[in-house]
Amino acid sequence: MEGGVFSAQKPTYLLLLLHIFLLALLPFKAISSPKTQAEALLSWKNTFDFAYAPSSLPSWSLTNLNNLCNWTAIVCDQSSKQVSQIDLSNFDISATLTHFNFTPFLNLTQFNLNGNIFTGFVPSAIGNLSKLTTLDLGHNLFSGEIPVEIGKLTELQYLSFYNNDLNGAIPYQLSNLQKVQFLILGRFGRNNYYLETPDWSKFSGMPSLTYLDFHGIFLVYSEFPEFISKCWNLTFLDLSGNYFTGQIPQQVFTNLGKLEYLNLTNNKFRGPLPSNFPKLKHLHLAHNNFGGPIPEDIGLISGLQSIDLALNSLEGPIPSSMGQLRGLKYLDLQLNSLNSSIPSELGLCTSLTYLDLTSNHLEGKIPPSIGQLRELQKLDLSNNSLNSSIPYELGFCTNLAYLALASNHLEGKIPPSIGQLRKLRHLDLSRNQLSGSIPLTLSNHSYIQSVNLSNNNLNGPQPTEIDLPFGNIDLSNNNFTQEIQKAPDNTSVGNSDLCRDARGLTRACNSKKNSNKVIIGVLVPVCGLSVVATTIALIRMFHKKTKRAFKKINSAQNFENFESMILQEEVKFTFGEVVKAIDDFHEKYCIGKGGFGRVYKAELLSGQVVAVKRLNMSDSNDIPAINLQSFENEIRTLTNVRHRNIIRLYGFCSRRGCIFLLYEYLERGSLGKALYGVDGVTELGWATRVKVVKGLAHALSYLHHDCSPPIVHRDVTVNNVLLKSDFEVRLSDFGTARLISANSSNWTHIVGSFGYMAPELALTMRVTDKCDVYSFGVVALEVMMGRHPGDLLESQLSKSSQSMKEDNAELLLKDVLDQRLEAPINELAKAVVLVMSLALGCIRTHPGSRPTMLYVAQKLSAHSLPSLPKPFAMLTINKLMGI
Ligand SMILES: *[C@@H]1O[C@H](CO)[C@@H](O)[C@H](O)[C@H]1NC(C)=O
Ligand SMILES: *[C@@H]1O[C@H](CO)[C@@H](O)[C@H](O)[C@H]1NC(C)=O
Ligand SMILES: *[C@@H]1O[C@H](CO)[C@@H](O)[C@H](O)[C@H]1NC(C)=O
Ligand SMILES: *[C@@H]1O[C@H](CO)[C@@H](O)[C@H](O)[C@H]1NC(C)=O
Ligand SMILES: *[C@@H]1O[C@H](CO)[C@@H](O)[C@H](O)[C@H]1NC(C)=O
Ligand SMILES: *[C@@H]1O[C@H](CO)[C@@H](O)[C@H](O)[C@H]1NC(C)=O
Ligand SMILES: *[C@@H]1O[C@H](CO)[C@@H](O)[C@H](O)[C@H]1NC(C)=O
Ligand SMILES: *[C@@H]1O[C@H](CO)[C@@H](O)[C@H](O)[C@H]1NC(C)=O
Ligand SMILES: *[C@@H]1O[C@H](CO)[C@@H](O)[C@H](O)[C@H]1NC(C)=O
Ligand SMILES: *[C@@H]1O[C@H](CO)[C@@H](O)[C@H](O)[C@H]1NC(C)=O
Repeated sequence: MEGGVFSAQKPTYLLLLLHIFLLALLPFKAISSPKTQAEALLSWKNTFDFAYAPSSLPSWSLTNLNNLCNWTAIVCDQSSKQVSQIDLSNFDISATLTHFNFTPFLNLTQFNLNGNIFTGFVPSAIGNLSKLTTLDLGHNLFSGEIPVEIGKLTELQYLSFYNNDLNGAIPYQLSNLQKVQFLILGRFGRNNYYLETPDWSKFSGMPSLTYLDFHGIFLVYSEFPEFISKCWNLTFLDLSGNYFTGQIPQQVFTNLGKLEYLNLTNNKFRGPLPSNFPKLKHLHLAHNNFGGPIPEDIGLISGLQSIDLALNSLEGPIPSSMGQLRGLKYLDLQLNSLNSSIPSELGLCTSLTYLDLTSNHLEGKIPPSIGQLRELQKLDLSNNSLNSSIPYELGFCTNLAYLALASNHLEGKIPPSIGQLRKLRHLDLSRNQLSGSIPLTLSNHSYIQSVNLSNNNLNGPQPTEIDLPFGNIDLSNNNFTQEIQKAPDNTSVGNSDLCRDARGLTRACNSKKNSNKVIIGVLVPVCGLSVVATTIALIRMFHKKTKRAFKKINSAQNFENFESMILQEEVKFTFGEVVKAIDDFHEKYCIGKGGFGRVYKAELLSGQVVAVKRLNMSDSNDIPAINLQSFENEIRTLTNVRHRNIIRLYGFCSRRGCIFLLYEYLERGSLGKALYGVDGVTELGWATRVKVVKGLAHALSYLHHDCSPPIVHRDVTVNNVLLKSDFEVRLSDFGTARLISANSSNWTHIVGSFGYMAPELALTMRVTDKCDVYSFGVVALEVMMGRHPGDLLESQLSKSSQSMKEDNAELLLKDVLDQRLEAPINELAKAVVLVMSLALGCIRTHPGSRPTMLYVAQKLSAHSLPSLPKPFAMLTINKLMGI
């Protein structure tokens, strides 16, 4: 057994002697050699579920037994040539630790399994790895309790159980880890909160600890853990999302002088605010019961970058010392009882990007110094007792995207300078006593999404036509001189529908009448909303420059004047022709309505038929607002997508925020229509259904694996899968697709259809290709079952897969399939079984355990079908999940 080592490693005689010596000395103790280590790893690997990641760890193989130190994820000690580190982080491995033989690895220094699908217990034998400095079991599905033996790993510097399914107590033995610097237990029981009050007195201080994450662990009332105040070196402390109560002990303030990050959000702490942490950068204490004033000398903590004290019971003034916080970016004090006036010194916090003082008792005026906050993106002072006028200096805050000064008592006129805020998306000045007219300030408010000026005393000319591309506007309850433009009924955000007859509200997009009014509306966005005057008198007020621009656009009434237009090179028609063909978006050409807008069928003079999709802005309003340029790049990529199972996108144009997509038109319509229509059964036989699923799999596989950067569709449903006359599939609707790339990380807006959305989206908001895989699984099941597989999905979600197994143990495949068809036989039966088993794999709850679309597409295209493990009529769903 030892011989293999020597031939491989060319050891010195000394090493040989040493081994012989050790063998003699410790006959019963496990002796590890590279070979025994390799064998142990191999037998462990044999228990891994790699079904869906076939290329993982190829170097871990019998034929490579002598080359252990070169194996993937393995690092050897230089001198002993033994494994010193195992780093299997993010390998998508589905396995357990119970099959891991710890004995040959007693010298291991680093063990990292972060980001896999490990289940089962953490064995107590892990406590034998006494040389470990790093143990990271985070982001897995480990269950059971944290073994007390972890306390024996006294060399540990980094320990993480973050985000698992563990339960039980945090063993106080962990505080034996006197060298540990990072202790990360946040959400270690993702679904099982710890339900006993811990006995903190058994915990001792950990002098080396710099990073302590206890967030989301306890569901019981507990005092502030005393031992923490003895962790002198702490820089990061997160106790958020627990039931901590009581006051914060005084020693904490005096001892933790190195603290840089303190997050106690979402607890029940009360008493005065902790302060005097001289090094603090982030102070997050929102949603507690802290009372009393904000410490007057908070401004002395000069490194503060973010302060969140929202939802407490703080009273008294906002300390003027805050003006010294030149690095402060984020200040949220909403929903407290702060009174007196807003200190003008706040204007010195020139790094501020976020300032929210909503729902306090602040009074007096809005200090003009706020105009110095040039970085400010959100300013919300609503629901206070401010009674001044709006300072014109606000117009200097040119980065403002969100401005709300609603409720209780602002007066005077809206300063025209507000119109300089080009990046404004939300403006709410409602429920004040503002008077005067809406100032006519020329500007480009292409980002604006909602405007609320209701419940004021605004007067002046009647705003008859308003051009607001994103549709949400409320001017109700004012005192306009003529008949007031009635606000649309659905003024709430997210409810606008650009296809409605909006009495001109969206006429610039929907330029049916295309009157001068509208053209003026395009040109004269007024204070963020474009009020269009009908009178010549009003036009006289405009600058000469405006007149020129007016003419220019006026001469371009033929729909060709778009802010942006991309048409594929081979496309022969113009967008103007398309608009003409559908009589300017007349209802009678509307062939479909969906969450994202309406689809129109345009028959061009040339005889060509195209589909026009007009995006519903409330659902996709973040696209052009963030960056029209990057949206255009995205569209360019999509127009380059060529695949027989993906619909052709001919082009796109946008105009003042409206987006139109031009697609190839398919006569047969959607898969949903075919499946549930009158002819569904006769037309969609088993062979056709398998073909449909296969085509869809290829389309998604192409988007995920052949496009660079990869494209995630995000909304795969039976309604977005269209059918050609020969039932060839064409995947459609890229309205929501986002390219996976670093710079699109801010597009976390959830889109997708209920019933098809992967469950993790609700938790993580992280859109990955695995979300598409899930939706594909749902569609594939639906095609085979002839109905939405809601009940199957639910049982899959019900937490333990055990119960799933029991629930469906007796569920026969033949009973689940579409009962309107005869059961499939022979090769068709095999194909249906394959589709069902792949689809069931796709709807697994854990994204990492779903197959890739590449794998699914390849399996479906494989020429030989697997033979059935049982006669068709006896196959159960449970059995299929194991295939
Ligand atoms: C651990 O390393 C020491 C010296 O480096 C060696 O003597 C011992 O045999 C090793 N133990 C195991 C189990 O490999
Ligand atoms: C280790 O693997 C690399 C490639 O993976 C190979 O080039 C190298 O020769 C290997 N080293 C040994 C000692 O086998
Ligand atoms: C490892 O630990 C277990 C229990 O914690 C113990 O029974 C066993 O003897 C240990 N094995 C070795 C090789 O030290
Ligand atoms: C505490 O931190 C300091 C500096 O960061 C370091 O020198 C010291 O060793 C740490 N103390 C302990 C007990 O780790
Ligand atoms: C503080 O904790 C809350 C709740 O866990 C979390 O949502 C928030 O992002 C944290 N704040 C910071 C600045 O990390
Ligand atoms: C602010 O509130 C505190 C405490 O409630 C009170 O003592 C003080 O008089 C108030 N100040 C003003 C200006 O209302
Ligand atoms: C306004 O603030 C008070 C507390 O100051 C709060 O109770 C109330 O809910 C707030 N109203 C709104 C609409 O936010
Ligand atoms: C605003 O309120 C303060 C105190 O509540 C009062 O002294 C002041 O006169 C008011 N200002 C105006 C313009 O009403
Ligand atoms: C509107 O913005 C565009 C580019 O964003 C710019 O070219 C144009 O001059 C602006 N128009 C006005 C009136 O500011
Ligand atoms: C409304 O406007 C008229 C004339 O412009 C004025 O007489 C009247 O007082 C105003 N009403 C209110 C409530 O401000």
